[in-house]
Formats: sequence, structure tokens, C-alpha cells
Amino acid sequence: MIRFIHLISLILLLNISFIENVDRNNFKTCEQSAFCRRQRKYKPDTTPYEVDLSSMKTITNGHLQFSLLNTLKSHVKLQLDLYTLQHNSLRVKINEINPVRKRYEVERVLVSEPKLVNVNITKSDNNQIEGRFDKTARFILNAKPFRLDLFTNDIFVMSVNSKNMFNFEHYRKKPASDGAPAENNAEDNEDGMWEETFKSHHDSKPHGPSSIGIDVNFLNFENVYGIPEHADAFSLRSTHDTDPYRLFNLDIFEYDIKNPMALYGAIPYMLAHNEHATVGFFWLNAAEGWIDVSNDKLNTKNLFSTITSFFGTKSNENNEVPEVTTHWMFESGIFDGFFFMGPTPNDIFKQYTALTGATPTPPLWSIAYHQCRWNYNDEDDVRGVNNGFEQHQIPVDVIWLDIEHTNGKRYFTWDTSKFPNPEKMQDDLAVYGRKMITISDPHIKKDDGYQVYADAKSRGYFVKSKDGSDYEGWCWPGSSMWLDYFNPEIYKWYSQRYSYDNYKGSTPNLFIWNDMNEPSVFNGPEVTFPKDVVHYGGWENRDVHNLYGMLQHMATFDGLLERSNGNIRPFILTRSFFAGSQRTSAVWTGDNAAQWSHLKIAVPMLLSLSVTGIGFIGADVGGFFFNPDAKLLVRWYQAAAFQPFFREHAHIDTARREPWLFGDDNTRLIRQAIEQRYSYLPFWYTLFYRQEKHGVPPMLPLWANFPRDTNTFKTEDSYMVGNGLLVYPVTEADINQVSVYFPGQNTVWYDIRTFTQHNGSETALINVDMESIPIYQCGGTIIPQRLRKRRASMLAIHDPITLVVALDRNHEAEGELYLDDGQTYDYRQKHAFIHRRFTFKNNELKSISLDSSAKFETDAWIERIVIVGYPKNPSRVEINSGDKQAIPIHSYQDGSQVLIIRRPGPAVTTDWTLTLS
Ligand code: NOJ
Repeated sequence: MIRFIHLISLILLLNISFIENVDRNNFKTCEQSAFCRRQRKYKPDTTPYEVDLSSMKTITNGHLQFSLLNTLKSHVKLQLDLYTLQHNSLRVKINEINPVRKRYEVERVLVSEPKLVNVNITKSDNNQIEGRFDKTARFILNAKPFRLDLFTNDIFVMSVNSKNMFNFEHYRKKPASDGAPAENNAEDNEDGMWEETFKSHHDSKPHGPSSIGIDVNFLNFENVYGIPEHADAFSLRSTHDTDPYRLFNLDIFEYDIKNPMALYGAIPYMLAHNEHATVGFFWLNAAEGWIDVSNDKLNTKNLFSTITSFFGTKSNENNEVPEVTTHWMFESGIFDGFFFMGPTPNDIFKQYTALTGATPTPPLWSIAYHQCRWNYNDEDDVRGVNNGFEQHQIPVDVIWLDIEHTNGKRYFTWDTSKFPNPEKMQDDLAVYGRKMITISDPHIKKDDGYQVYADAKSRGYFVKSKDGSDYEGWCWPGSSMWLDYFNPEIYKWYSQRYSYDNYKGSTPNLFIWNDMNEPSVFNGPEVTFPKDVVHYGGWENRDVHNLYGMLQHMATFDGLLERSNGNIRPFILTRSFFAGSQRTSAVWTGDNAAQWSHLKIAVPMLLSLSVTGIGFIGADVGGFFFNPDAKLLVRWYQAAAFQPFFREHAHIDTARREPWLFGDDNTRLIRQAIEQRYSYLPFWYTLFYRQEKHGVPPMLPLWANFPRDTNTFKTEDSYMVGNGLLVYPVTEADINQVSVYFPGQNTVWYDIRTFTQHNGSETALINVDMESIPIYQCGGTIIPQRLRKRRASMLAIHDPITLVVALDRNHEAEGELYLDDGQTYDYRQKHAFIHRRFTFKNNELKSISLDSSAKFETDAWIERIVIVGYPKNPSRVEINSGDKQAIPIHSYQDGSQVLIIRRPGPAVTTDWTLTLS
């Protein structure tokens, strides 16, 4: 029997490894998902929903409550709660009053109960309530028909249910078995409401229909973004001729690009941007979701009399303004919508992360270069790879081990024939300043001899089937079960598996990769849990599906934190994610392919994640499936060196692809790209710190820095690193020119290699060869770098700094530097950091501390200052810090207008002024 099971498991695994392209038949279309089918066709001429204004209660200032009635179903009563929140944000909850069954409300996502601000009711008549709150926000709640309009700075930006799509399926009694509907209403017995079959999988739907649909419309906007994860455009496409974008965490084998199919993670958050405002809508719901997007025109004639002022722009001669209409459909849960009224991109980043949290400053080494493959085979292999980096003088910070390092895919164990001495292996890496990351998946091999399984089994810790038995499915180890992290006790127990006692062979130098956590169930419907499996509290997977992966990686984070008594910052990489994942994990885009199109799509995929709060992100360098040729691999390194998470990774069936295997020339090019990453680490680290403080992600769309430049609204071939670097990765095989758009009127851009200048608001044809990574520093910024070569980032913590001062047209610039020990929480607990601001103005470059309480002991000093765009050779350069004065050596290049000041010398910890005369 056991042999038979092994055989099946082998066949299953082989099948999985050798399928060539995504098999769409394994995944539902909207038409095949009963609730999506019902909601998508719901298009009444008028909405049956009305707000009963006479029911209004003020619960507290900032929280108003109303009854919301469906005039066609008078017995169904809904409650609408409206909360005015700090940071120009509004929350609207709609739930059933006295439901047949309680509806699920998402937990673990919001960092705390959102803070209310007072609302000033400016108008109230028998059909409308108007309120103003916080800085610039205003709402109008219309009663009959039910509709909500939102304004920022008195500009009309969003409207809810203005297309009448609000459709709330209340819980109801099941129709009698003779087919007579329980509520005497034929609608309650529509196909797919009470059970549904997809391929051979039957969904028992014991609680019947429970979906909610609503339209949220962005007025005078032409571009919306977000709702990851999809391998699709950054500015979302109209779904008129396709399925809606789907949000349902799935392991899609060999995903296709440019389509709205669901992928591994889900963030139900969309942003809209135009030259006047950036706004956002977040629906906190963890069930399966589908979102239609449509680019329409709105006829404003009958809307308002003074329409011009409402839109901040004029409508065309037909009284039309553009409008993106979006139709959101979720299978269960409640309506819990957050509306962010911006109005600037940085406001939006703050508003969303104030609710769901920001990525904390990661350990420095984790933003350096990572070397991974499925699999490094044994300890010798790991040593060999490490030596390869030494021999070829390529920096690297981490070597990773995939599933084959375990004893038969039993996580928290080692295959001792290949890894007899894991502690020593990790210690050996530590000598080079390097770390190790091992994989830990959520499926637990069904094997009584495996302690993790036996213990969890005896405690009843596994997710249950609908009949109450432990749910069993297939994954890498064969027959497996899954822990129910929704139960706080199980969550805690799982996090304790990461203690040094429980995870034998792990050392403080080892960190974690959580994969397959959608979860991936090879024989489950759509390769995941059936919807009717039951979690803690009696909730069905239907209600909570998209949270599962996040709970696993959060528990892992807690375990690593606990392991160091709260002293060392954990690092976790996760494949599955939800809103809030950014607080504990980095995310990568899963199983891409070694194709140019996948290199290209990484930018829009990463931008979509970035703007929705997930800032520590990357794509597998080289492409996971298949073998990249040397050119593609080099180009991939060059691109990823300027993306937040930088890791090479490859499928087990691919050829080895360590950086030195493609000939000397390519090794040199890859080394250069990785070295460039290391040289910019102080800049990246400063940006990550800014993300923790202000929610601004390090990788940004151009419009985040140039919000009024309409040419950037659809840009997805280039992006910004902070406000300093514009990156245009080369993503095509045989080209010797790229066409780069430089945003911003009156802005000047400098090629980071040649310092050639380019004008903002212009497109330039740039010649490229294999050496080129088209990257430009924005005039007006100061970027800190470290130019000394080191084998790993942690060895450079006290190395000197170079400042590159790129002047704007007024010969001014500013920038920041953040430094700390790169791995502990001393920066929070003991203020052990340095945060400095540099400004260049009136021929003076100054360094001042941004936080007088900050103290980090370092002998790092300013080794070099490069001032770009300086018009003349100064006759004297003088630097003053405290009572010390120095006259450093300088040189000036006329053609490129570059002034280089060598060894100016001040410690990074001190205030100083450099004067040019
Ligand atoms: C799927 C992951 O996406 C991939 O990165 C990993 O190598 C394999 N699982 C094996 O663990």
C-alpha cells in the first residue's frame, strides 16, 4: 500500500513538473463561478436600495448609522455604518441586521481600530446628508436611490452605486427538497446558489448564496491601478472583452501573462490617479473576488449645475468627462469599504499604510543579492557556490535551500545524507558575512513518524473537511494536512516550531521562505482547498481563503522574532499574500519563465504590488521555468539590481545558472550589475526606512514623483527608485536603442554613468549595448552610495559614503541618509541610528541630523562628493565641521559639468558645511 502511495505521489509530482503551459481548464472563468455569473449579469435600470434617513443614529462623532433597505425584499434589512477617519479617509460598512448566519468580518489585517475624526454635517434634507471631515474630504449620501459621492478639495472623485450594481445576497433558508423555494421566491433557487460543481469537484455550499456586488466609480480619471496579483498591465485594462480581474490565491502552474487570471496573492485595493488627485478604494474582504474595469465617459449634464468646479477641469462639448467604472464582486463576507481621498500620491501611501501597516526596515543583508535554486544539492554544493562567488569576486549575501534539503519534504528537518552538519554549513557562511534561507511550506506530510505531524494530529490542529474529519490533500510530500492558523493556539504552536530547540540544525544565521501557501493542494479544486473546508470558528474557506498564506508567514515572523527574544529583525519571503502581508514579509512574483516577455512584465507586476503597500518585492532573476540564454540572464540581472528584492532562482529541471557559467564577458556584466546594487545599498536602505515611516514604497511609478505629468500615467517600461533614480531596464533581445521618456517640465536628468544631461518632458533615443543599464539621477536629488567593494553587505556597515549631488536648474538639491546596525531593533528601542539630511543651495552643501536623539556609533565618513551639473570650476572648496576646517582636493570636468571632491573627510555622524566659491 505504502509503495502504491509513493508511486502515485511520484506520478503526480512528475506530472506537475512537466506540464508546459498554464492549463486554463483547471481554473474557473467568471461564467464557471456561480456567484460571479449572477453578479456580473445584475444590471438593473434603477437600484432597489434606499437609505432610511429617518433611522440615522450618531453613534459617536465620526460614526453615523443608517438602515439600508431593499425595496424589492422588504424583509431583508441591512445596516450601513459610515465612519469618517483621520487622514482624509472614509469607511463604509454594510452588513445584514439579524442574519440567518453571521457574516465573516476580516481579522488580522488592520493594525488597529481606525481613528475617527469629527464630521461636520453641512447639509441634511429628506434625501441627502452631506458631511465634511479632516482636511479636504466631503461625502454626500443620497438616500433614494442609495448612492454615495466623494469629494476631495471639492473635486468630485468617486461615486458608489451610481451604476446601480449594489446587490447584497442575504443569507437565507435552503429551499425545501421538493424544490419549493423557502422564501417563496424563484430567485432564491438559481443555479449554483446551493451547490456547484467544477470539473470533478463538488462544492456543497451548506449556507447558500452570500455574495455582494457593488460599483465604485472614479470620476474624471482614465487610469486605475492595483488589485494585485495579476501578470498584467500596470494601468488596468478594460475587462469589457475578457473575464474580470480575479482575486483568489492560487498556484497557477506556468502562468500566462497579460490576462486577468488570479495568481498567488490578493490585495483588494485600487488606486486612481489624474493630474488633480490620487484616490483609492480598499474593500477589506478575504473571499474570492472578481473586478470588472471599464473606461467610460460620464455625461455630466444632469449631474450638477456647476460641473466645471466639481471636476477641476472642463467637460468636453458633449458635457462628458472620462470615468473609470469598476464592478466588485465577492463571494461572501460583508461590504467593508475604505475610501482614501488623497489628494497626493504620498498622501495615498500614508492613508493606506496607516490602516494596514507599512513594511518595516528590513535587515540590510536582505536587500542585497540572494542566490537560490531548486536545489543546492548538499553541503558541498553550497560550499562550492559560496566559493564560486569568492573566486569570481561577486558579492552575495544569502544562499537558499529549496524543498530537497529536507527529509522527504518534512519541514523543520534535514536530509541528513546530504546535509549532515547544517549548523556548521551556516557557520561557514557566516564567516563570509553571509546568511542561509531554507524553505518551509504549510503542507504537513501525513506520517505518524514525523513529529510535527504526529503532534499536530493529536492536538486536532488541522483544517477540517466539511464532515469534521481532518482535511487531507496532496502536495510535495504526497498525502498532507494543513494547519489551521486561524486558531490563535495553532498559530502560536506553529510559530514555536521555529525555535532553535524545535528546528534542529537552525542557527541565528538562518531565515525562512514560505512557499505553496495559497495553499497549493495538487488534487484540490483549482489546485487549492475546497471552499467548504472549515476553519477555526466554523468559518468556511469560502469566507477566509485569501488570508491563509498571510497567517502562515505572520506566524513564521513571530517565531523568528521570538527565537531572538525580539532582538533581531526576521526575514521571510512569501509567495501568497493579502493586505497587511507587508508588515512581516517580502513577496516575489512566483513561477515566471525565462522569456523576455516575463522580464518585461515584472515591472508592471512589481509596480502594482508597490502602490498597494507591498514594497519589498522582486521576480526570480533569469525566470523560474526554462533556461535563459546569456543575454536574457544579463539583462535580468541588470533590471533586478534596481528592483527591491534581488534573487536568482530556477526550477529543478533547468541548467545551472550561477553568474559565472556564461563566459567571462557575461560574468563581468553580471558582476557589474550586482556591484552596482551594492554601491546603492545606502540609498535603498534609506528608502526602506522612509517606507517604514511614511508608507512610501522604494519602487514607484513615475507619476508618484511627477503627479501632473500626464505622459507618465500609463508608463510601465520605466519606474523610479525613490525620488532619485529613473530606471529603464532593457527588456528586449536585439535592440541597440531604447526610447526613454524623462518626466517633469524643467527637470534635468543625469545619466548615472556618463552624467550626460536630458531634459524633462522630452523623450530621448538612447543607444544601448550590453553594458548599458539606462538609469538617470533626477536633478535636485542627493544620493548616498558606498563604492568600496565587499563580499557581503554587512561587512560594509561602517564603510565610507560617497554623495552624488545632482543639481536641478536652480543649482539646488537635497537628499537623506539612514544608517543603523542593519539587523537588530536597536534603531527602534535605543535610537541607534543615523538619519541625516543633505541640502545643496547657494553653493553650500550642508549635512544636518534629522533626529537629535539618534545615536549610532560608527566611524563611517564622507569619502567623496560628486556634484553634477555644477556650472564652473570653483576656485576654492572648503569644508567646516565643528571647529575643524579643511580644504579638500577637487577636480572639475568642463564637458560634463562634474565636480569631484576627494576625501572631504567629515564623519557621517557630524554636522558639516561644504562651501564652494
Ligand atoms: C514553487 C515555488 O514557486 C518555487 O519557487 C519553488 O522552487 C518550488 N515551489 C519548489 O519548492
